[in-house]
Amino acid sequence: MKILILGSGGREHTFAWKIAQSKRCSQLFIAPGNAGTAAHGQNVALDPLDFAAVGQFVLLSSIDMVLVGPEEPLVRGIWDYFQEHESLKHIPVIGPSKAGAVLEGSKAWSKKFMERHRIPTAAYREFTADDIEEGARYLAQHPLPIVLKADGLAAGKGVVICQNHAEAENEFRAMLDGKFGAAGDRVVVEAFLDGIEFSVFVLTDGKNYKILPEAKDYKRIGEGDTGPNTGGMGAVSPVPFVDEAMWKMVEQRIIAPTVKGLRKEKIVYKGFIFFGLIKVAGEPFVIEYNCRMGDPETEVVLPRLKNDLVQLLENCAKGTLGRIRIRTDKKTATTIFLVSGGYPDHYEKGKTITGLEQVKGGFAFHAGTRFQDEKVLTNGGRVLAMTSLAKDLSGALRKSKRNAKVVQFQGKYYRRDIGKDLEGL
Ligand code: AMP
Ligand code: GLY
Repeated sequence: MKILILGSGGREHTFAWKIAQSKRCSQLFIAPGNAGTAAHGQNVALDPLDFAAVGQFVLLSSIDMVLVGPEEPLVRGIWDYFQEHESLKHIPVIGPSKAGAVLEGSKAWSKKFMERHRIPTAAYREFTADDIEEGARYLAQHPLPIVLKADGLAAGKGVVICQNHAEAENEFRAMLDGKFGAAGDRVVVEAFLDGIEFSVFVLTDGKNYKILPEAKDYKRIGEGDTGPNTGGMGAVSPVPFVDEAMWKMVEQRIIAPTVKGLRKEKIVYKGFIFFGLIKVAGEPFVIEYNCRMGDPETEVVLPRLKNDLVQLLENCAKGTLGRIRIRTDKKTATTIFLVSGGYPDHYEKGKTITGLEQVKGGFAFHAGTRFQDEKVLTNGGRVLAMTSLAKDLSGALRKSKRNAKVVQFQGKYYRRDIGKDLEGL
């Protein structure tokens, strides 16, 4: 079958790499893709948010399936767009309907959903500009730290953890005053959960679900988890503290009620669900849902997945995921992101990348890269994810670090402590 992947990051390169290994895929397109995806298929200059252009391309190129990488097309309703057009209706779009993507698109909605289905999460309240003074009074008596979340999509920046009441009130008023645009028209005020985070992924056809390997992401720019949040600086899979007992709780208390809850509410969901979880006093709680795979988590999850991904996606589309048994590589996968100097604030693009041919015993998954005049140039904040597999965490980290060193570009930065907190656990 002919497959179109939408997106241009490390996640999409990893999808392309995995899909290209399947005999079921005869032709692969990535829109818009990057310098890495071009090695596995054909990049197409299309904006994933321009649904009309995507639909036209799908018809012209006889695409049989669309895999949506990032959240924004899903939250804006690309699934629904295909359903609304007679000529596109029969072409599966892997990803939830707009009604399902709201799990990520509205934090207030997802909190209410978890409440309805008794899924463990932090206590919260939501406020709009209409009840700003009541919100300020609520904050004044709230224990510290206080977590404030802009309701809508805010490019990963909409969560602020406040250490004192004055800061919380200022931030609360700024959010409701448009600091994050319309995303902050509604603000969720949440209790702070003190624990260790991990991510769990499922692929669901709306009825059945298949659990993929778990991962831990490193979000802060600085070593020792310091400095501002980023899209993700590295990841590890498996996560040593996620043992059998934890898996049982996660599945019974979180995964099963989420999939069942969506079905009960008649929300169409055929795609990935990303559960951002936190272990507090030995028990799992939901920090957030995403309606897609994680990035950089995909760069460690897919290399451990032994199944044919295209077969999984086909079964997902047909509603027959129940027939599949997930097979996982026991090895540990690690990825270290090489980022542009200055990221996540200001950084420059267009730097020449060298040394890619020296990467050994692992993969360089491209994120912010592009080709120009036969050179690979940086084209974003997060540039390359250096993934390795080895029989243990230390071995995989050694390989990822070696590969992180041999690839060069001006301003290159990476965290040298990815996975360090998990060694010896
Ligand atoms: P999010 O954008 O929802 O992924 O949140 C960003 C980060 O904020 C999460 O990865 C957590 O590290 C942190 N966070 C969000 N909610 C909470 C909470 N209730 N307690 C503690 N940390 C949180
Ligand atoms: N790594 C976090 C995310 O994909 O949202």
